[in-house]
Amino acid sequence: MRQLTVSLGKRSYPILIGESLLKSLGDLFRNAGIDRNRKILVVTDQHVAAHYLPTVTEQLQRHGYPVYTSIIPAGEQSKSLQVYEQVITQAIQYELDRRSLVVALGGGVVGDLAGFVAATYMRGIGFIQLPTTLLAHDSSVGGKVAVNHALGKNMIGAFHQPQMVIFDLQALRTLPKREILSGFAEVIKHAAIWDETFFQWLTKQADALLRLRNDVLEDALYRSCQIKAHVVSEDEREAGLRKVLNFGHTVGHALESYYGYQRLAHGEGVAIGMVVASRIAALLNPEAKQVEEALTDLLLRFGLPVRVPADVDLNAILELIYHDKKVTHGNIKMVLPVKIGQVQYDQVIPPKLLLQAMDELRDNAGSTALVQEGEGQR
Ligand SMILES: NC(=O)c1ccc[n+]([C@@H]2O[C@H](COP(=O)([O-])OP(=O)(O)OC[C@H]3O[C@@H](n4cnc5c(N)ncnc54)[C@H](O)[C@@H]3O)[C@@H](O)[C@H]2O)c1
Ligand SMILES: [Zn+2]
Repeated sequence: MRQLTVSLGKRSYPILIGESLLKSLGDLFRNAGIDRNRKILVVTDQHVAAHYLPTVTEQLQRHGYPVYTSIIPAGEQSKSLQVYEQVITQAIQYELDRRSLVVALGGGVVGDLAGFVAATYMRGIGFIQLPTTLLAHDSSVGGKVAVNHALGKNMIGAFHQPQMVIFDLQALRTLPKREILSGFAEVIKHAAIWDETFFQWLTKQADALLRLRNDVLEDALYRSCQIKAHVVSEDEREAGLRKVLNFGHTVGHALESYYGYQRLAHGEGVAIGMVVASRIAALLNPEAKQVEEALTDLLLRFGLPVRVPADVDLNAILELIYHDKKVTHGNIKMVLPVKIGQVQYDQVIPPKLLLQAMDELRDNAGSTALVQEGEGQR
């Protein structure tokens, strides 16, 4: 098992990464000093519940915790005010109090929703993240919690740090292939914005990582979490530096939203978004062309899409981008790469340039680099 810390003064917390951690969850809770008389509400989705909820509840009950559960439908649609209200209703019915804990068992959807419940229930109670997707190594760290609004993703949310993140590598064994690949997009993002050596290492270890070899996976997630933890420690509320983590997300979020969150997984949108941002950088400075090439190669290596889908209405994407939180005073601001391992945030992008980059990267050949629809569970 490996451990690192997100340093935020009194709100600092550990991230544990290792094999079969859910099977010793009770001990991990007790060792963390969590009092046995605190009520625990485990929030999870239907898919994850089938695999891991029995272990989690059994572990916690055996160690004396009063455990309640809330199972939401799987998928991005559950990041809604409606599902949020249902979970809050259950929390009230189970008489959770200020000392109670919310435990998020699942991917980024469960983490974001359960975290927002924890952030707002009785003006905020504690919560613990038990991520079960590869992508959630990213979403479970940093304290951004939210639900979506029909007009935009993550529009209703808060900063609410967890008290602990416990990442059980074993849980990835049941994750559909497509979700694994999606998760690697955020690992690649962390390398691309921060650490060229890590980027090269990912290239070398791609095969082992795709086979989910535990030792390399643990190393990859440790480094990826370390980069995120460092950035978050420096700028918790995204006044500046934390914006680097949005690399690929302006276009990524717009594409996800364009398809009603049905066609693209989050990481797939981010993968395309990173390539578009790199193309913009290359249009502004031909020397940056190498970044696009290196990034495209690595993304393809991990089976991720690198082209803007042919059927997308680019003007509609632009419209969606104007609703994004990252737009200020009508200016589209993006994170652009300088080289592998370094990016610049707050770059004002003329809409024409953005359209040009997306148009150039359109999947005109029709040969879809996108993972076939219907694969996985989406
Ligand atoms: N808060 C943040 O900082 C942050 C960062 C990145 C992404 N996100 C958010 O994360 C969300 C995406 O998260 P995600 O990709 O984990 O999606 P997800 O939570 O929808 O999980 C993907 C699918 O895998 C299933 N699943 C989860 N764990 C499983 C397991 N171990 N075995 C089998 N099936 C399993 C889920 O039921 C779901 O169908 C998006 O809403 C995105 O906005 C948030
Ligand atoms: Zn993301």
